[in-house]
Amino acid sequence: MYFLQLGFAFVALPGPVASQFLTAFYNPIIPGFHPDPSCIHVPEEDTFYCASSTFNVFPGIPIYASQDLTSWRLVGHVLNRASQLPDLAISNGSTSGIWAPTLRRHNGTFYLVTTLVHDKRPEQDPSRWDNIVFETKDLWNESSWSDAVHFKFQGYDPSPVWDKDGESYVVGAHAYRVEPGIHLAKVDLKTGEVKSDWTNVWNGTGGLAPEGPHIYQKDGYYYLLAAEGGTSEDHMVTIARSKNLYGPYDNDPSNPVLTNANSTNYFQAVGHADLFQDGRGNWWGVALSVRSGPEYKTFPMGRETVLTNVTWSNGSWPVFNGPIKGAMRGWQLPRIIQDLPGDGPFAHEGDEDLEFSPGSKIPPHFIYWRPPIKENYVVSPKGHPNTLQLKPSKLNLTGLDGNTGGPGGQTFVGRRQSDTLFDYNVDIDFQPTVPGEEVGITLFLSQNHHARMGIALLPSTNNTKPSLQFSFHAISYIPVPSSLTVPVPDGWHNRTLTLSLETLNTTHYSFNANIAVAPGGNGGKPPKPIRIATVPGEIISWGFTGAIVGVYATANGGDGTTPAYVSRWNYRGWGQVRDNWDGLLA
Ligand SMILES: *[C@@H]1O[C@H](CO)[C@@H](O)[C@H](O)[C@H]1NC(C)=O
Ligand SMILES: *[C@@H]1O[C@H](CO)[C@@H](O)[C@H](O)[C@H]1NC(C)=O
Ligand SMILES: *[C@@H]1O[C@H](CO)[C@@H](O)[C@H](O)[C@H]1NC(C)=O
Ligand SMILES: *[C@@H]1O[C@H](CO)[C@@H](O)[C@H](O)[C@H]1NC(C)=O
Ligand SMILES: *[C@@H]1O[C@H](CO)[C@@H](O)[C@H](O)[C@H]1NC(C)=O
Ligand SMILES: *[C@@H]1O[C@H](CO)[C@@H](O)[C@H](O)[C@H]1NC(C)=O
Ligand SMILES: *[C@@H]1O[C@H](CO)[C@@H](O)[C@H](O)[C@H]1NC(C)=O
Ligand SMILES: *[C@@H]1O[C@H](CO)[C@@H](O)[C@H](O)[C@H]1NC(C)=O
Ligand SMILES: *[C@@H]1O[C@H](CO)[C@@H](O)[C@H](O)[C@H]1NC(C)=O
Ligand SMILES: *[C@@H]1O[C@H](CO)[C@@H](O)[C@H](O)[C@H]1NC(C)=O
Ligand SMILES: *[C@@H]1O[C@H](CO)[C@@H](O)[C@H](O)[C@H]1NC(C)=O
Repeated sequence: MYFLQLGFAFVALPGPVASQFLTAFYNPIIPGFHPDPSCIHVPEEDTFYCASSTFNVFPGIPIYASQDLTSWRLVGHVLNRASQLPDLAISNGSTSGIWAPTLRRHNGTFYLVTTLVHDKRPEQDPSRWDNIVFETKDLWNESSWSDAVHFKFQGYDPSPVWDKDGESYVVGAHAYRVEPGIHLAKVDLKTGEVKSDWTNVWNGTGGLAPEGPHIYQKDGYYYLLAAEGGTSEDHMVTIARSKNLYGPYDNDPSNPVLTNANSTNYFQAVGHADLFQDGRGNWWGVALSVRSGPEYKTFPMGRETVLTNVTWSNGSWPVFNGPIKGAMRGWQLPRIIQDLPGDGPFAHEGDEDLEFSPGSKIPPHFIYWRPPIKENYVVSPKGHPNTLQLKPSKLNLTGLDGNTGGPGGQTFVGRRQSDTLFDYNVDIDFQPTVPGEEVGITLFLSQNHHARMGIALLPSTNNTKPSLQFSFHAISYIPVPSSLTVPVPDGWHNRTLTLSLETLNTTHYSFNANIAVAPGGNGGKPPKPIRIATVPGEIISWGFTGAIVGVYATANGGDGTTPAYVSRWNYRGWGQVRDNWDGLLA
C-alpha cells in the first residue's frame, strides 16, 4: 500500500508545523487509556503506527497513525469483529482480556501478536494464556485483519522476530510464578505451530516480572529489550544483547536504561518500551507511563503512551533520553507531508455535539465493555432521528460476581477520558415504566471500579409508588461516596434531561443533572444544574486500564425493556496537566 495509490491529498502546512526544526514534544503523545505501546515506522509512507492494549474493551487494539509523532489519528482496531476472537465475550475479571500487543511488519504483511488472558484462572493453567496472531496487508482497511491464529505459550507479551534464516520466532514473558523469565521459540505465525521448545533466554536484571520483551537486530547483535519491576512505581526498561538469537545475553551495565522510579516526576511507572527509527534514521522510544506524581494515588487515565528520543550508535547500547517528562526536547520532529487517509478522530480530539444523524455509524472511537449486543445500540431509529437508542441489559455496570458479564451483556458505550480536565454531557430522553429501569452516565474503569448516575424508576424511601429518581452509585477497592437517590423535580418529568460529568479539579469529578435546552435554544435558560455527587478520581485509579466516560442502560435485574434516546453527546477537554510543579496546561 502506498500513499499515492490511496489518493492522498497534499496539504498546505499550517504555520508552526512548517517550521524546519521543531524538536519539542509533549507527553503523553497518545493520552488516555493506551498502555503497552508498540510502534513501527513504514518508510514508503513515512508514517508511524502504534498499537496498545485494551483488556476487556471492544473493539480492541486500536492502531493510531502519525507523521510528526505528535498528532495521532485513529486508523481502526485490529480486533473489530467479535468473531475474530469469540472468547473475549466470556472474559471475567477486571484485568483480563487483551494484554500487550506487538505490531510489526515483515515482507509486506503487518502482524499483531498478543494474548487474551483469562486472569482469574491459575497461572499454572495453560488455558489462562491464549496467545494469538492477527495479520493484514492493509492497516487502513479494518476489515482486512484476519481472525486470531492461536499458538501455545504459557505466558504473555509475545513479540515476533524474524531471523536471518527467514524463520519467525516469538519471544515472550513466561508466567512469572511458573517459570519466570523471557522465553523464545520458533513459531509459524501463519498456522500457530510452535516448531521448537520454549527456551529461557534471559531473566532480566533481577527485577520483578521480566516482561514486554522485544528483540532488535542491529550491528551484528540481537538486542533484547524488556520491562521489569511490575507495571507501577518500580517499572523500568532494561536491555541485554547477544551475537546469537538464543543467547547468552549480556546485560547493559547501564541498566535500567529508562525509568522514572524513585523520582518525584509527575510521570511515573515508565516501562514496557518499544524502539523504532524515523525516516532520517533517528531512534525513538515509546513506553507506558502513569500521570500520578510520586504520590501514585490519583491517575484515572491509567497507563498512557509516552515518547522519548534515543541515541543508538553503531555497536553501542541504546541510550534513552530520560526521565520521561511532560515537555521534552528530542530529535528534529518529522514533518506532516501528506494528509493521513481515513476519518478517525485524533487521539487528542474531543466530541463536539455528536448527533447520531440518520445513516451515520457509531463513531469509531466509541468502545464497549466486551463485544456489544448490537441490537442494543441503534443510531437514529424510526421516529427518533439524531439519537442513539439504548436498550437496557438485565445486568447493570457491576454485572455478576467476579467481574463477569453474561450472555445479555451490559449496555454501555463510551470513550476514553483523554484530558486531565474535561466535561462530558449528553441529553437523555427516557420515560421508564418498569421499576428498576435506569439509564445514565458513568465514569468507568471496570465493573468494580466506577461511579454512575442514572435516571431511574425506583421505590421512594418510604416504599410507596415507584417514582423517578436520580440514582448515584459508586464502587471501588477503597471507600466510595454513599449511594443516594434524589427525586427528579416535578417540572422535569417527561422532559429531555442533560446529564453531565466534569472534573472539578485534578482530583475530583462531579455528576450533575439538568433539563435540556431545546434544540435551537428556544426553551429559555435552563435552571441551575443539580449537583448529585462528587467523586474522587482515586476510586478509579487502579489496575491496568483507564477511565472511560459514557452512557449505560439497565433493568437492574428486572424485566424492563424501555429504550432510552441519547443525543447531543459532548466531550470537551479543558487541559492536560503534564507536570507536578507548575501545572503546565497545554
Ligand atoms: C466466566 O465466568 C462464567 C460464569 O462463572 C463462566 O461461565 C465462564 O466460563 C467464565 N469464563 C472464563 C473465560 O473462564
Ligand atoms: C514475501 O511475500 C511474497 C508475497 O506475498 C511471497 O511470495 C514471498 O514468499 C514472501 N517471502 C518470504 C521470504 O516470506
Ligand atoms: C477491505 O478488506 C476486506 C476483507 O479482506 C475486503 O473484502 C475489502 O474489499 C477491502 N476493502 C478495500 C477498500 O480494500
Ligand atoms: C533464569 O533463572 C532460572 C531460575 O533461577 C535459572 O534456572 C535459569 O538458568 C535462568 N536463565 C537464564 C537464561 O539465565
Ligand atoms: C528504587 O529505590 C529502591 C529502594 O532504594 C531500590 O531498591 C530500587 O532498585 C530503586 N529502583 C530503581 C529502578 O532504581
Ligand atoms: C558498524 O560497525 C561494524 C563493525 O565495527 C561495521 O562492520 C559496520 O559496517 C558498521 N555499520 C554501520 C551502519 O556503520
Ligand atoms: C535527545 O535529543 C536532544 C536534542 O534535543 C539531544 O541533545 C540529546 O542528546 C538526545 N538524547 C538522547 C539520549 O538521544
Ligand atoms: C413518602 O411518600 C410520599 C408520597 O410519595 C412523599 O410525598 C413523601 O415525601 C415521602 N417521604 C419520604 C420520607 O420519602
Ligand atoms: C408523562 O407522560 C405520560 C404519557 O404522556 C403521562 O401519562 C404522565 O402522566 C406524564 N407524567 C408527568 C409526571 O407529567
Ligand atoms: C478538588 O475538589 C474537591 C471537591 O470540591 C476538594 O475536596 C479537593 O480538595 C480539591 N482538590 C484540590 C487539589 O484542589
Ligand atoms: C446492580 O447494582 C447494584 C448496586 O447498585 C447491585 O447491588 C445489584 O446486585 C445489581 N443488580 C444486578 C441485577 O446486576
